[in-house]
Amino acid sequence: MRRSHTPRIVLIVYSLILHCVSASVPIKSHSGIEPCFGRCKWTIDSSMASGILHIVGPDAAVSDITPSAGWAIIDCNLDAPDQDIRLVCQNASRGCAHVYQNGAQGTLVRLPENCGPKSFAIVTREWTHDNQSVPEHLELVRREDAPPAVVKGMTLTTSFKNVNSTRHGAVNLALIGSSVPGIVNGAAMEPLGDTGKDSLRSWASGSLHALAQEHADLSLSVGTLNKSKTGASPINFSKKISLYQQNMSCPQSGKRPAFTGKFSVSVEPSVNGNVSYGVTAVGSIIPPRLDEFGFFVGLDATVATILAVDASLTGSLSSGSIPLVSVGLPGLSFPGILDIGPTFDVNAIATASLDTYLNLSASLAYDIQGMQITFMSGSHSQTGNITLGKMSGVQLSASPSVTSHGQLTAHLIPSIAFGISAFDNKVQTTASLNFDAETSLDLSLSGSLGLAAPTGQCRRRMKLGFNGCANLTSGFSVNAGVNADFFDVFKKGKSVQFFKKDFDLYEVRISDVRVPLSLL
Ligand SMILES: *[C@@H]1O[C@H](CO)[C@@H](O)[C@H](O)[C@H]1NC(C)=O
Ligand SMILES: *[C@@H]1O[C@H](CO)[C@@H](O)[C@H](O)[C@H]1NC(C)=O
Ligand SMILES: *[C@@H]1O[C@H](CO)[C@@H](O)[C@H](O)[C@H]1NC(C)=O
Ligand SMILES: *[C@@H]1O[C@H](CO)[C@@H](O)[C@H](O)[C@H]1NC(C)=O
Ligand SMILES: *[C@@H]1O[C@H](CO)[C@@H](O)[C@H](O)[C@H]1NC(C)=O
Ligand SMILES: *[C@@H]1O[C@H](CO)[C@@H](O)[C@H](O)[C@H]1NC(C)=O
Ligand SMILES: *[C@@H]1O[C@H](CO)[C@@H](O)[C@H](O)[C@H]1NC(C)=O
Ligand SMILES: *[C@@H]1O[C@H](CO)[C@@H](O)[C@H](O)[C@H]1NC(C)=O
Ligand SMILES: *[C@@H]1O[C@H](CO)[C@@H](O)[C@H](O)[C@H]1NC(C)=O
Ligand SMILES: *[C@@H]1O[C@H](CO)[C@@H](O)[C@H](O)[C@H]1NC(C)=O
Repeated sequence: MRRSHTPRIVLIVYSLILHCVSASVPIKSHSGIEPCFGRCKWTIDSSMASGILHIVGPDAAVSDITPSAGWAIIDCNLDAPDQDIRLVCQNASRGCAHVYQNGAQGTLVRLPENCGPKSFAIVTREWTHDNQSVPEHLELVRREDAPPAVVKGMTLTTSFKNVNSTRHGAVNLALIGSSVPGIVNGAAMEPLGDTGKDSLRSWASGSLHALAQEHADLSLSVGTLNKSKTGASPINFSKKISLYQQNMSCPQSGKRPAFTGKFSVSVEPSVNGNVSYGVTAVGSIIPPRLDEFGFFVGLDATVATILAVDASLTGSLSSGSIPLVSVGLPGLSFPGILDIGPTFDVNAIATASLDTYLNLSASLAYDIQGMQITFMSGSHSQTGNITLGKMSGVQLSASPSVTSHGQLTAHLIPSIAFGISAFDNKVQTTASLNFDAETSLDLSLSGSLGLAAPTGQCRRRMKLGFNGCANLTSGFSVNAGVNADFFDVFKKGKSVQFFKKDFDLYEVRISDVRVPLSLL
């Protein structure tokens, strides 16, 4: 279904409401029944996001001190990341002893929900506790031949970087997450089989593609099928912004009266649509590092802009990148491992060089349909269409009395930036996907009023009502880059172009050409 969009002229500047959505999402272990022996699966399922985290290691390196493995924790602080706890084996047949394989020290253990701020921690020390008292409500299951249960003490830490991996070996991780609630546990996600790094990588890339497909299917079925899974975040804003403004009083000169000259460039961007994203990562938790990070962004939106230039002064300007808006999108958090805080931003850049009077208003719109950009360290892909949307046209007036040349370029750059931080902010970067809509005007005026433009000179250009030509072009490109090194996965400054399309607007009718006589 194709939507037609009429860019609106918004006369009032209304304030933007920024939504900043909390990135913290509870992480839940897969099921209370299966103990985590050698491998563990956590799921995120909230109203804002969904995800799966697999932690896999040598059997002795990953264990469990929750009731699933027979343990009961007696004293534990909910908020302390590093602490001493007391615990007792309540039912040895569930496998309490697993944590002692090759020694408990250095083992990554799953924690019950009311113990510690994270779902897992490392045991750094283990001993028989001085305080052997067990709360009365805890019923200890005892086999007849077994000695009485002993209350143990354990020191836990969540600083994974301080753990020596020599004892039990490296513990790997692989995760996938989506901004759409409930989708990651969908049928398309393959279960994790083999646990070597190469298999984890192929699981991650396969799952990311499957997830992207599910997102695409979802956006097609919006409104027709299952409303409960339409998790794409809506983006809707419109704002009128002055990029540059300069006034100058110009004294009377010859027949021309004194006037206040002005050079102003303004844009009125509007973005209306839906965005969703997914991420994947592969690495190890001990030692903490990531070897692969990938994401995709799904975007269905209309990006429109009105570019207005009003110049009765000559000169040139180069604005640099001007931030226009930044809106938080729902975040995704795998506590202690990976936090993703995405924002939707719009930036603008304008450059102009004019030596004639110019008054221009150009209104352009782009329809972005089914756009999906997938970005992994070793591969990237893009699908979807960008077409020129309905335009309300171009109004241009210029002074034809002089031979002159004018050049103007304006970029409107909506982007989706992923603030990524790994292992409790140890490593951070921002990966941005930029949708760059560029509009350029190239104006040539021959300076003799009243004569027709020489034939051919305006070929594939707009012929003005007086002696001159205007070349108005527009282009849309999509590129991605990062602002800081992220492990060996991304290198700062490396950028990838996904898409580039130029639209030649020479056929666009200039709806109005006027020359203010006072300025002749
Ligand atoms: C102890 O664990 C075993 C094995 O999971 C189970 O069959 C048994 O019912 C448990 N005993 C109690 C009292 O929960
Ligand atoms: C032993 O722990 C219990 C809580 O489980 C506490 O009430 C008691 O005071 C502790 N005893 C000693 C000697 O610290
Ligand atoms: C890790 O432990 C091994 C022996 O268990 C030791 O040889 C090695 O030096 C330790 N590494 C660090 C970084 O402490
Ligand atoms: C929509 O999805 C939910 C959860 O996935 C499911 O329980 C429900 O039956 C679905 N509804 C329809 C109409 O398919
Ligand atoms: C977008 O915002 C404008 C102004 O706030 C509102 O009139 C319009 O209905 C919104 N569109 C959608 C699709 O939410
Ligand atoms: C320039 O003049 C206009 C009125 O013509 C005024 O609204 C604007 O604020 C002035 N800008 C500057 C930068 O002085
Ligand atoms: C955004 O999603 C809403 C439903 O959630 C849908 O009505 C709307 O058409 C979508 N907008 C675009 C541009 O796809
Ligand atoms: C430029 O055009 C706009 C809109 O048509 C008009 O309001 C403005 O006065 C014009 N500026 C000059 C200097 O003619
Ligand atoms: C893109 O356009 C082509 C041809 O116009 C069409 O076949 C395809 O389905 C479109 N893709 C999307 C995602 O809209
Ligand atoms: C119009 O401008 C574009 C960009 O500046 C340029 O690539 C193109 O060749 C120009 N077309 C003509 C006919 O001058």
